[in-house]
Amino acid sequence: MAGKIPQNFIDELLTRTDIIDVIDAYVPLKKAGKNHKACCPFHEEKTPSFNVNQDKQFYYCFGCTASGTAITFLMEHLRIGFVEAIEDLASRAGMEIPREAYNSGDSSSVSNKLYELLESITEYYTNELKNNKNTNNIINYIKKRNINNETRVEFELGFAPPGWDNLVSNFGKSKETIKLLVDAGVIIKNDRGSYYDRFRNRLIFPIRDQRGRVIGFGGRVLGDETPKYLNSPETQIFQKGRELYGLFQARKASRDLKDIYIVEGYMDVIALAQFGIKNVVATLGTAATFEHIGKLFRITNKLIFCFDGDKAGKKAAWRALENSLSLLKNGRQVYFIFLPNNEDPDTFVNKNGKNAFINTEMLTPLSDFLFNSISHNINLEILEGRSEMINKTLPYLAKLPLDPYKDIIVKELSKITGYEVNDIQKQLSIPEKSDLKKLKNSNKKVENNRGIEKIRWLIRCLLHQPSLALNVESTESLLALESSGIDFLCELIQLIKKNPNITLGGILENWRDSKFEKRLCELASEEDEFNEIGVTNEVFTDAISGLIETHQKEFETFKKKSSPLELTDEEKLKYREMQKSSKDS
Ligand code: UTP
Ligand code: MN
Repeated sequence: MAGKIPQNFIDELLTRTDIIDVIDAYVPLKKAGKNHKACCPFHEEKTPSFNVNQDKQFYYCFGCTASGTAITFLMEHLRIGFVEAIEDLASRAGMEIPREAYNSGDSSSVSNKLYELLESITEYYTNELKNNKNTNNIINYIKKRNINNETRVEFELGFAPPGWDNLVSNFGKSKETIKLLVDAGVIIKNDRGSYYDRFRNRLIFPIRDQRGRVIGFGGRVLGDETPKYLNSPETQIFQKGRELYGLFQARKASRDLKDIYIVEGYMDVIALAQFGIKNVVATLGTAATFEHIGKLFRITNKLIFCFDGDKAGKKAAWRALENSLSLLKNGRQVYFIFLPNNEDPDTFVNKNGKNAFINTEMLTPLSDFLFNSISHNINLEILEGRSEMINKTLPYLAKLPLDPYKDIIVKELSKITGYEVNDIQKQLSIPEKSDLKKLKNSNKKVENNRGIEKIRWLIRCLLHQPSLALNVESTESLLALESSGIDFLCELIQLIKKNPNITLGGILENWRDSKFEKRLCELASEEDEFNEIGVTNEVFTDAISGLIETHQKEFETFKKKSSPLELTDEEKLKYREMQKSSKDS
């Protein structure tokens, strides 16, 4: 099939990928015994039940049963498709997806059509800004905002002319393109079933993703009407919690960004860029999310949040602090700039110039912001105040990953409050919930298990200890038994023999999108097995011989029973299956 990524490439990619690195970049993991743990990113929780196992290259949450491989994690966490997840892992691993098989520009996909359409609309809006007869107002507005031509071109500023049907008449030639315009969020269906433009008589800011594709627009009124800004709604290709305005332009200006400023508004990005400060991005009317911050920390180690100097700006800064904490390791740093009241980065830089803005004296380190905010109304002169300070600070410190940064913040808290470092650390170490109830059933299951149960048990053993398959000399006598469970078991054994180092994650990826996928995942994540199955080679090969024996015996018994009425429903099913397979062979 054209465009399908070959399984052997995926196998190779997985051997070069470590699920711990992949997940840790988004959800900081803590080593706990054989597993790495974290609070589950797929459901709300206070104590960590999300487990990642390096040997198995598999994750599992005991709370919500989310489970899967590194590929699954990226797909679920970033809400991206399989191919995108593969692209992401391949680029980290420095591998190239085989060309003949790879057709990333699959132009039939809806996303690609949306990207193409939005690109054309961007061109339309920028042309309107240059050519429209009604542009006096917009040209004046741009001048009034002190935006020069170079900046206008760099950020592709456009003009959505007045009128209700500009996009439909320019782009909506067929039912299909009208649907695309709706899906792209640029036209809206009214009660009477007709369509109208979302952006009318507004200055347009095209929003590009990190790879440079237009994914949406922001549009500002030219006067005092409300709402001041309109943005594209969330669409298949536009999620505000993940995208940052200006990131594409910032990366284009320099591939090696030493630091990145995060501001609130489109106009802030543009004004700073015009003053030569090009390492700036803006959130899109939302707080800075964990995804935003994670994305930026993959590009640079130093983030500087600069919000408006009002109450809302302070609040936004605190949210940014909360969402940064768990990412602060390996030399990553977060700073804040608090502008004077009633200023935003745009007005500030226009008034005071570049040097005033980039002056390091403007920077408040995250640790100062944290301690100052918490101690703001606390009297540290008295014992009660210091105790309050400790209690209020601990939950934030608990979010910090193990790193020297955490150690020195702990030391600082100790200095401020007089509470011993060791005692703080004691408070911070969350008692590990004993999950030692594993194993208890798994060995019992060797005995007493008949037929299907036994096959399931064997499959489970192989998922968790693939190397067990290497001692199975031949699958021939097994295959002769020909039940569907056994066929699968044999396929699994052969896969492992072909890839002796395969992990659970690798096995699961071989059955992605097959009818076995879901069941396999369930088998892989049953609670006691997730941790340690602890089966020896002998036990395993004995169980296989036993399986062959029982299977043959059962078949004989069924044949002996004179009437099918003597069989239980389960036995009937099995008998029919056995009869069928002995006929086929
Ligand atoms: P601001 O009101 O601070 O924007 O909102 P600004 O860039 O300083 O606006 P100017 O200088 O008056 O042009 C910050 C951001 O919040 C979002 C936009 O993303 C804006 O850039 N916002 C604001 C909206 O989405 N809708 C609004 O009505 C206002
Ligand atoms: Mn502003």
